This record gives sequence, C-alpha cells and structure tokens, in this order.
Amino acid sequence: MLTERDYRVVFEASPDAMLIVDSEGTVRDLNPQAVAMFGWSREELDGSPVERLVPAASRARHGRHRRHYSEAPQARPMGQGLELLALRRDGATIPVEISLSPGRLASGQEHVICTIRDITGWKRMRQLSRAMVTAVENERKRLSRDLHDEFLQYLVAFKIRVKLLASESGAEDREGARAQIAAEIDDAIRGVKRMIRGLLPPELEYRRLSSALASAFRDIGEVHGFTVHASLDRVDEDLDAAAALALYRIVQEAVTNAERHARVTEATVMLKSAGDVVIAEIRDEGCGFEFDGHTGLTSMHERAALVGGGITVDTAPGRGTTIRVTVPAVGPDDERGLDRW
Ligand SMILES: Nc1ncnc2c1ncn2[C@@H]1O[C@H](COP(=O)(O)OP(=O)(O)O)[C@@H](O)[C@H]1O
Ligand SMILES: [Mg+2]
Repeated sequence: MLTERDYRVVFEASPDAMLIVDSEGTVRDLNPQAVAMFGWSREELDGSPVERLVPAASRARHGRHRRHYSEAPQARPMGQGLELLALRRDGATIPVEISLSPGRLASGQEHVICTIRDITGWKRMRQLSRAMVTAVENERKRLSRDLHDEFLQYLVAFKIRVKLLASESGAEDREGARAQIAAEIDDAIRGVKRMIRGLLPPELEYRRLSSALASAFRDIGEVHGFTVHASLDRVDEDLDAAAALALYRIVQEAVTNAERHARVTEATVMLKSAGDVVIAEIRDEGCGFEFDGHTGLTSMHERAALVGGGITVDTAPGRGTTIRVTVPAVGPDDERGLDRW
C-alpha cells in the first residue's frame, strides 16, 4: 500500500504540471512542473487566484466557466475545441491542454485537480504539417499551370499546323511547314524537359547538386532573361539526398524571388563546403525588403530546418538581399541514397 507520503511523491513526480484549485478558484497546491511551467515560485502561487495564470483577455470568461464547473463538476478536458493559453510570470503565453478532475479533500472541501500540458511542440508540428499540405497544393497548382502553358499550348499549335500542312499544295510550302513543325516539336521537348527538371531535377537523383543548379539557372535565363552568376563547388560528397534536395529547393526559391521581386536582371549564387557544413549564398543587388525575421520566406526556413540546417537573411530596402543557407555535411561513413527518405 502506498502511504500518504508516497502520494505526495507521485504528485511531485508527475511529468505534467498539476494544480489543486479549490471551489473559490484559489490555488491550494502545485507540483514542481507547474513551478517550472509558469515561472512563479511555489510560495507565490500557493494561495493566489488561479486566474493569475490566465491571460487578461480571457480572465473574466475563465472565472465564469470555473463557477459554472463547480456547480456540476466532472472529469473533462477544459475548453474543448478552444485553443487555450496560459500566462507565465514573464508575461509570455504558452499554448496548453488542460484536464480537470473534481475531488473532495479530507476536510470535505471541493477541489479540482488541473493537469496542464505544454503543447508548444505539438502546435509547431501541426503548423508544419499544415504548411506541408499547402506546399503540396501549391506544387500541384504550379504543375497544372505548367502543363497548361508548356504542354497544352504546344499540342493545340501542332493540331493547327498539321491541318495547315495538309492544305499546303506546293512541295516547297509543305517543306517549310514541316520544318516549322519540327522546330516547334524541339521547343516543346525543351519545355517539357524544363518541367521535369522543375519537378525533380534528374541530376539530383545522382546527387549532382551543382549541375542540377546550373541547369536550373540556364532555364531561368532562357525563360525570364535573368542571369545567374554561379560559382558552384562540387559538394556532392558532403551531402545526403535530403540535404541536397533542400539546398536545391531553397536556392531555386531564392533565385526565383530575386527574379520576381528584386527588380534586377541578375543574381550571384555561391555553393561551397566549409568543414562540417555546406553553404549556399544567393545575393542580388536589388531593391531589398523589410524583413522582420518571422513572416515570409517560410518555406525556405522550414526546408532548412527539416534537414537540421538554417537560413539567414540579410536585407533592407535599397540594400539588396543576401540569403545564406547552411546545412550539415555528412561524414564519409554516413548512409547515403534516396532510399533513406
Ligand atoms: N530578393 C528579394 N528582393 C526583394 N524582395 C524580396 C526578395 N525575396 C523576397 N522578397 C520579398 O519577400 C516576400 C516574401 O517572399 P516569399 O516568402 O518567397 O513569398 P512570395 O515570393 O510568394 O511572395 C516577397 O513577396 C517579397 O516582397
Ligand atoms: Mg517566393
């Protein structure tokens, strides 16, 4: 049998933060996890209103719900369907999940055991998976637009040409039309190759990042008249497949941003190994932008983070933009290959 003291130990050892709150809404006890979570000392919280831990904006509502709960207490999660926030001593809020269980103390007084779990990590995961769903949708949109622009247009044009070819009577005219169709088919083949490269550059399957990037830069030059001055070291030995793909996508996005937003016609890209990291730097001398470190460039951040790397953004209006991507290099003994992801 566990003794009273043992139960105290259980309470203290609980991995979740726990508060004992009486029917007046006063904190009667708390465990070390609650102290760690909220930043108040045990003495400070013990005996103070539980609403101290509720952000000001929802305090009144919390009070109403609490009184309502104490009329018909039952074990249940708090604020079902709501995103609950708890207030720390330093004023920061943390997303939490709270379970309530009613009970009666030895004194006969009603109380509620509140179990509080910090769900910051879980929320972050949810945001990430939302971002991934959005990314997949955007990719599909792009694909469907490319299929329409590159492929469908060509097929429609061929159909017309072939009709015209049939109606050409002179051998010379027919030869001219045939040559034109041949040229357009070549164009179409190039267009479709570009599309395929955009989806997953074939070079990347053999982890030749520098040549995959060089082809991508050629394409952006052909299609948008945008010049990329590239200095690309062969870093393939230092990258696993996931890191190579992340670098490829981030550089692609940064260059596309320079082409679309920077109001310049050229950018510089550098790729090199530096000890235990591989670094890519994308620089344009364009208009720059106000970057607060949070909004924008999200997909680049996410992609870098997913392979354990990061990006830094150096920009300001009128000062151009430099994006620096760093991903960890793999050691010579690391497992390699596409099958790993
Ligand atoms: N190289 C750049 N030069 C100027 N502005 C940029 C550059 N890169 C990004 N921006 C600004 O940052 C914003 C966010 O970029 P991004 O997250 O890639 O979204 P999107 O390109 O879809 O607008 C852009 O809309 C643009 O205003
Ligand atoms: Mg962009």
